[in-house]
Amino acid sequence: MTAGRRRFLKTAAATGVASLAGLRPLPAADAEIEIDPSRPGPTISPHVYGHFIEHLGGVIYDGIWVGRESKVPNVGGIRKQFVEDMKRIGAPNLRWPGGCFADGYHWRDGIGGRPRPRTYNYWEHRMPPGRHAIESNAFGIHEFMRLCRLVGAEPYVAANVGSGTPQEFHDWVSYCNAPPGTLSLADERAANGDEEPFDVKYWGVGNESWGCGGNMTGGEYATEYRKFISQVPVYVRPFFVATGPRGHSADGDVGWTEGFFGGLQNVRGLGVRVDGFALHYYTDFRQTAEDGAKFDEKGWYAVLHKGAHIEKVIQDHWAIMGRFDPQHRTKLVIDEWGNWYRGGTELGPEYILSQTITLRDALHAAMTFDVFNRHADKIEMANVAQTINCLHSLFAAVGDKYTRTPAYYTFEMYRSHMGGRLVPVRIDLPEVTVPLLEGSGRLPALSGSASVRDRSVTVTLTNPSLRESVVTRIRLAGGARLREARATVLTHPDMRATNTFEKPDEVVPMALAAPVSGDTATLTIPRQAVVAASFHLA
Ligand code: AHR
Repeated sequence: MTAGRRRFLKTAAATGVASLAGLRPLPAADAEIEIDPSRPGPTISPHVYGHFIEHLGGVIYDGIWVGRESKVPNVGGIRKQFVEDMKRIGAPNLRWPGGCFADGYHWRDGIGGRPRPRTYNYWEHRMPPGRHAIESNAFGIHEFMRLCRLVGAEPYVAANVGSGTPQEFHDWVSYCNAPPGTLSLADERAANGDEEPFDVKYWGVGNESWGCGGNMTGGEYATEYRKFISQVPVYVRPFFVATGPRGHSADGDVGWTEGFFGGLQNVRGLGVRVDGFALHYYTDFRQTAEDGAKFDEKGWYAVLHKGAHIEKVIQDHWAIMGRFDPQHRTKLVIDEWGNWYRGGTELGPEYILSQTITLRDALHAAMTFDVFNRHADKIEMANVAQTINCLHSLFAAVGDKYTRTPAYYTFEMYRSHMGGRLVPVRIDLPEVTVPLLEGSGRLPALSGSASVRDRSVTVTLTNPSLRESVVTRIRLAGGARLREARATVLTHPDMRATNTFEKPDEVVPMALAAPVSGDTATLTIPRQAVVAASFHLA
C-alpha cells in the first residue's frame, strides 16, 4: 500500500470521527496480505466453534425441545430444523444445562417417567409479571444426550457446585459413564432407555462461582473444586473445567485467576488437575442504551471495539496462569461469549435475554473467531452464549416460526478452520480511529486469521468500516503457488440488516470473485463485511 493511500485511510477514519455524517461509501483502500502456509503452528481446536444452551427463556423449551406431540417437525421431541442446521455447521459440542441454571439444577429431577417434578428455575426473577419460569424437567440428561448424538456434538455438562454436593456430582458422573451392568446407577440409566454409557468427558465444575454459582472468592472456590474432583469416578478420562473469571469486568477480574490458582498451591496429596479454565467474556452493553436492532455508526463501532478487547483479556489471564503453571497444562475454555444489549428486542415476554441479531453481531463473531484462532495454543474450547433464542444466537424459533440469524453464517463460513493448523498472516494496513459511544478508539482496518489443512489454506477477513471497501492482494509466502481460490462474503447495504421469520434470507453469504494470478489472489472486501476464502495450493 502506498503512503498516500495510508494517509487517505487515516484521514477518512478521522473524518468519520469528526462528522459522523452519512455512511457514504468511499473509494477502496489497498492491502497486501501475506500468508505463510510453510510454517504451520498449533491446531485450532474444533471445539472453539462450540455452543451453549441453558434452561433459560426460550432456549431449551420451544427453541430446542418442542415435545413429541408438537406440530413443529421434531425428532423425538427435538426441533428437526435445529438439528439439521447444527449438523450443517459441524457443531462440535454443546454445553448444558447452564449458566446460572446449572448451580440450582438437580439432575435426578430430569430422569425417569413423565410427568417429572416441576422445580424452581434460577431465571424466575427475570420473568415479566404474571409469568413463571417453572422447570418442567421434560428435557434432562437423556434428552440432552439424544440431541448431542443427533447433531454429532460432544457433550459438555456443567455440574452443580453452588447448591449441590460432591456426592451428587459423582453420582451424575457414574450415571452417565458407568459401563452397563456394573453399578446400580448404570442399571437405572438402562431402565430409563440408555443401556450404553454416555461417555461424557467434559465436566464443568460449577459455573460463575464468583456470582450465581456460589458468590465465592477465587480461594474459596479452589477449596470446593478440590473437594468436587478428588473422589470423582473415572470411566473415561475426564476433562475438568474450573470456573474462571468474569473477563468483561472493568479490571478483567484478574484477582479471580490469581485467587483460584493461588488456592491450589502447596496442597499436599496427589496434585489437583485443572484441564480447562472457564473465561467468560460478554461484550456487555447492559448498562447503556445500546440495543440489538436500532443503532448508529457509534454503536456499530463500539460493539466491535469492545468485542476485540477479548484478545487482551485472553493474554492477561494466560500470563497469570503461566506464573502458576509454566508448562500451561491448563487451557482456556471460553465457555460464554457474545454480545449482550440492554434488552427491548425480545422475541416475546417469556423469551428473556433473547435479542435481535444483525449483521453487526455476525462481524463481531467473525472478529472473535479470528482472535480465538490466533490464540489456538491457549484455547481448548469456546461456546457462544447462547445458540438459540438468546443473546448472540444463531437461530430464532417461536412455535413453527424459525430463522437462522446473520451470526449463523459466520459459523458456517469459519467451519473450515476447525481442526486446521494456524498459519501466520501479515496484513499491511494500519489501525484506524473509529467513533465509540463516548469518544473514539482504535480498531484494525482489517482483521483476520488463516489456517492450513491438507493442501488447502483458509483465510477469513473482516472489514469493519462502514464506508470503504478494501482491495486485498493475498500472496503466499515462501514461493507457494495457488491453484484455485474460492470466496464467500457476508454483508448487506444496511448495517442493521437482520433475518426475520418473514424474511429469513435477508443476510446470507454470497460468492465473491477471487481471481488468481501466479502466487497472488485479488479479493475486494466490501465495507461492513466478512469474507472467507480458501486456496488450493498447486
Ligand atoms: O448466558 C446468560 C447468563 O450469563 C448465564 O446463565 C450466566 O452464566 C452468565 O452470567
